[in-house]
Amino acid sequence: MRTQVAIIGAGPSGLLLGQLLNKAGIDAVVIERQSPDYVLGRIRAGVLEQVTIDLLDKAGVGQRMHAEGLPHGGIELLFKGARHRIDLEGLTGGKHVMVYGQTEVTRDLMEARADAGLTTIYQAGDVTLHDFDGSQPKVRYTRDGQTHEIACDFIAGCDGYHGVSRASVPEAALRTYEKVYPFGWLGVLADVPPVSHELIYANTGRGFALCSMRSATRSRYYVQVPMEEKVENWSDDAFWNELQSRLDPEAAERLVTGPSLEKSIAPLRSFVAEPMRFGRLLLAGDAAHIVPPTGAKGLNLAAADVGYLARAMQAFYGERSESALDRYSDLCLRRVWKAERFSWWFTSLTHKFPDTGAIGQKLQQAELEYLVGSRAASTAMAENYVGLPFAD
Ligand code: APR
Ligand code: PHB
Repeated sequence: MRTQVAIIGAGPSGLLLGQLLNKAGIDAVVIERQSPDYVLGRIRAGVLEQVTIDLLDKAGVGQRMHAEGLPHGGIELLFKGARHRIDLEGLTGGKHVMVYGQTEVTRDLMEARADAGLTTIYQAGDVTLHDFDGSQPKVRYTRDGQTHEIACDFIAGCDGYHGVSRASVPEAALRTYEKVYPFGWLGVLADVPPVSHELIYANTGRGFALCSMRSATRSRYYVQVPMEEKVENWSDDAFWNELQSRLDPEAAERLVTGPSLEKSIAPLRSFVAEPMRFGRLLLAGDAAHIVPPTGAKGLNLAAADVGYLARAMQAFYGERSESALDRYSDLCLRRVWKAERFSWWFTSLTHKFPDTGAIGQKLQQAELEYLVGSRAASTAMAENYVGLPFAD
């Protein structure tokens, strides 16, 4: 088989890239290790920046997002037992974010891909990348006991943190930066109305908590747990009790509980691999960088990467110009590092760290008080939360 771009991974990065390339008349095949149901079973964050909304519209998959997504013009910060609103809209000249689950984004992209009759190879085994240091790269995989080869012009490595793409780059060509946080997020999805109509990020003596949602009838909640914690140790009741104990009295009173639809623990990590291009192999999304989920930047960074990548491919095929490809890595990484900084800062401000003790919490509270009391500090936060501009 031959295609212009072989995309490894059918997560949000790979699928969005596939749609954007298709709109630009560029042929691509997506090669995914798992089944469609497995991919759709992963519950991840759900806050879209305007840049992501615009790219989903450009890809022709924004219809359901606009109909069902919930625009949010503010968030709440809870500390010392009281909530304080950050007016995202008022502080950023009218910008907002859209609450719409990553699972739904993935579903919309999968459906659009199927409707357009585009090729996705699911359950591809032993994917390997070849010759991306030359002009005729290849991807090989096995399926139903047979080995297949796809010849292409480019390989897009959209296969996440544990994928084969970054692992195929010679170690000497790669610089990596990593920080693992000493805790995780225990998350629960439940068909109960959200405790508040805006997201609540809570700093408490018992650790961080987040109240989020998927719709008016479906909530997504998280509590910080030690990194070695096991999900089996948490009954639904134990989770609801812990969450309630981290809320202010009014929210604790309003909290509606119910059976969990999904319950899992996610580790928190900051990670960046540089550069993001190696000859004809281009990394995008979680394959190149991970942020802790505080601030929900993971999906948005992935979308911005593939936005730049699709544009660079268009310049290559349309104008025979490689200059956008040459700039791809630098352009992405400038945005990536700013989101890494924001996610690290917001994590550091809201979580309970095992080593910092009582003075750590006092310092966090002082910074939170300054943040909600200073228009300059609130504006800096709001600008980052709604998403930085998509630079040229
Ligand atoms: N071969 C083929 N596919 C692979 C391989 C492989 N060796 N390894 C991984 N994959 C697939 C995974 O099964 C997954 O479907 O690549 C896909 C990568 O998807 P994600 O991990 O969702 O990464 P990405 O598309 O970059 O999405 C970024 O999703 O992971 C969240 O927090 C992240 O929100 C961010 C966004
Ligand atoms: C979520 O809804 O899952 C979510 C929202 C905001 C975050 C992280 C996760 O910062």
